[in-house]
Amino acid sequence: MNIEFANDVVEGLTSKNKQLSSKYFYDDTGSRIFQEIMEMPEYYLTDSEFEILSLQAKQIIDAIGFNQPFNIVELGAGDGLKTFKLLEYLVNNNIDFYYVPIDISQGAMDSLTHSLQEKLPKLSIHPQVGDYFEILSKENVKTKIPSLLLFLGSNIGNYSEQEASNLLQLFNKSMKVGDGLLLGVDIKKNPKKIHDAYFDQHGITKRFNLNLLNRINNEFDGDFNIEDFDFYCYYNPISGNVKSYIISLKDQKVHLKKLDTVIEFKTNELIWTELSKKYSLDEINELSTKCDFKVVNHFLDNKNYFTDTLLVK
Ligand code: AVJ
Repeated sequence: MNIEFANDVVEGLTSKNKQLSSKYFYDDTGSRIFQEIMEMPEYYLTDSEFEILSLQAKQIIDAIGFNQPFNIVELGAGDGLKTFKLLEYLVNNNIDFYYVPIDISQGAMDSLTHSLQEKLPKLSIHPQVGDYFEILSKENVKTKIPSLLLFLGSNIGNYSEQEASNLLQLFNKSMKVGDGLLLGVDIKKNPKKIHDAYFDQHGITKRFNLNLLNRINNEFDGDFNIEDFDFYCYYNPISGNVKSYIISLKDQKVHLKKLDTVIEFKTNELIWTELSKKYSLDEINELSTKCDFKVVNHFLDNKNYFTDTLLVK
């Protein structure tokens, strides 16, 4: 049994304002549903970042300006598809570098390594499996050569402003002066566009959220009846917060046998599941400076929806 998950479920579902962390979305089924989300036309984030890394790889690498071999360390690499265009540019131009993808999932690292070895046989890849907080704090990526860290896909959006600031400071501490951090951030834009990406008409994001209840059923022998729950989310264009919730559709009790716990729900009671925070460019500048980074450039897509912002320590 995953003790951390068990504790978070009991604590999160027995507190006054129920909550579950979005980091638990990604079991095998959840990861597959997230792939479906990325394929929806409404979920512009993936296409925007793919465009940036396809069209501006040279500009990004020139801007960091390493004139010796370097590491590209990708935090939470996943299947790595968004990074492929950047790696391809480097390999095709005979630039000397080591690719160090880090991910919590052994499966994701295995399939990433396998597909990259096939697509880019000349790539020097050194995967690390584990929590990037732990791997970074062990300082074993603090090698003599410079590093460019990648934290892409708007994963920073899952953290509150305070948490994001702590995370960037942790990254900063593990870096050498002159090292870079390429940070993928979703930009504040027409609120309807953001709303449609998260409250999608296909119900895929709803399935993504309700899968968390299935996961709890599977791992803790629970009896959540998925039909008795719904999904809601909203975007606040002032704060930039997208907040996602699961709604209980009736008064009900759910038994989690392996945890020896009964959870009570009132009709319309909510479980908060995710924060997906959006930033203005000014807010990114402010956050970065506060965390001891210099902002080199915001690399935007053609629609100005998304930025891969290059920061240097
Ligand atoms: C993987 C955290 C970037 O917040 O946009 C997609 C996850 N949630 N649709 C995001 C997600 C709902 C995604 N991140």
